[in-house]
Amino acid sequence: MITLTGINKIYRTREIETQALENVNLEVNKGEFLSIMGPSGCGKSTLLNIMGLLDTPTNGTITINGTSTEKMKDRTLAEFRNRMIGFVFQSFHLINSLNVIDNVELPLTYRKISAKESRHLAEEVLQKVGLSHRMHHMPSELSGGQCQRVAIARAIVGDPEIILADEPTGNLDSKMGTEVMDILHRLNKEEGRTIIMVTHNEEQAKQTSRTIRFFDGRQVE
Ligand SMILES: Nc1ncnc2c1ncn2[C@@H]1O[C@H](COP(=O)(O)OP(=O)(O)O)[C@@H](O)[C@H]1O
Ligand SMILES: [Mg+2]
Repeated sequence: MITLTGINKIYRTREIETQALENVNLEVNKGEFLSIMGPSGCGKSTLLNIMGLLDTPTNGTITINGTSTEKMKDRTLAEFRNRMIGFVFQSFHLINSLNVIDNVELPLTYRKISAKESRHLAEEVLQKVGLSHRMHHMPSELSGGQCQRVAIARAIVGDPEIILADEPTGNLDSKMGTEVMDILHRLNKEEGRTIIMVTHNEEQAKQTSRTIRFFDGRQVE
């Protein structure tokens, strides 16, 4: 599903150079639930952003579903990403001025579908995450767990095969975290979506199909 070959990422500022990733080679299979662990600053988010085509490596190649992304132009890349990948972030990244259903519909604004169809798809995914009764609420009126469920609904509304989640339960208490994990496991098992998740939680990692570990930008296990 995703193949990373010889990925390096170097951040250069005027004062310092940081090698965030060093020669990462990784193959993620379709239907896998992969967890990524490692101390803060070891390059996990950088890796996820590169896999999700939000950032480009300094060198190395990324192939997604057989398509090499290297030479894609910005617009093609954005369309490809929009179709293939859904993102979930630790701090939800909802738009606070939009209500729940409008947040969920956002990824669909780039698709050629009718307003009615878009609304229908958003209602469907909100039902999946158990938030049909909160459709017209604002994000500020929701708990953290509910916000993350809205973010998951937004991530899957466009029916992507891949979900990338960067510490999705990092800001949640354990009960809300469990609810979010249950939803991710359902999306993996019942819908066959490939999930790659960064986590600091060993228990959560144990429940995934494979765990890889990073230290100082290198895969160590
Ligand atoms: N935009 C950036 N500019 C400069 N350095 C960065 C940038 N993003 C991340 N880094 C550095 O790259 C390293 C890896 O960061 P990150 O991928 O966020 O780690 P993690 O998610 O594992 O905590 C860290 O040393 C971080 O300071
Ligand atoms: Mg991070």
